[in-house]
Amino acid sequence: MSFCIAIDGPAAAGKGTVSRAVAEEFGFAHLDTGLLYRATGAKTFEGLSPIEAAKTLTAEDLARADLRTADAGQAASRVAAIPEVREALIDFQRAFARRTGGAVLDGRDIGTVICPDAEVKLYITATDDIRAKRRFDELTAGGAETTFDHVLADLRERDARDSARAAAPLKPAEDAKIIDTSDMTIDAAVAQVVAFIKAQRA
Ligand code: DC
Repeated sequence: MSFCIAIDGPAAAGKGTVSRAVAEEFGFAHLDTGLLYRATGAKTFEGLSPIEAAKTLTAEDLARADLRTADAGQAASRVAAIPEVREALIDFQRAFARRTGGAVLDGRDIGTVICPDAEVKLYITATDDIRAKRRFDELTAGGAETTFDHVLADLRERDARDSARAAAPLKPAEDAKIIDTSDMTIDAAVAQVVAFIKAQRA
């Protein structure tokens, strides 16, 4: 039996943490689809065209150590606006979504394009300031040297590009439940999402 949980939202809203916790709770597989775009973007650093990079993506590419950097995030957002890049990554994501045993996918277009018939759709968001603060804390805890203002500008630039593009823009599916995590701890957001999914599955 397949069961797809689609989790979308802007950068650093807490999607990753919530998705991992939900996958663990229900024993589902988890796919961070942002990694596909980050790995595609990172391959262009070596001179490959974005479309060629997406078409030749391997498991090894997804394990690169530099995928979490702000540069990889910006490159991901740029290649993600190219329709042929998105097209090249669709089959893999759809097969993952319908694997036996259940799947959680997080990204920007999971509930709208990849898995429009997902059993559960969530759109996780938070204010720009809160998201930038979380990302800033995460980056500096990992030893990166950056400023809050720089992180905020980076997030806003990426979200603007991701929302304005013609191909599968960032937006909530009409039937998605919107969860604003601005005034919640991530633990509280996880608890709310788990309770919501349990009610949907009952
Ligand atoms: O989730 P993330 O920050 O790792 O995603 C990096 C970029 O990849 C994001 O700015 C837009 C793009 N992306 C996308 O277009 N569609 C997805 N399903 C996931 C990510």
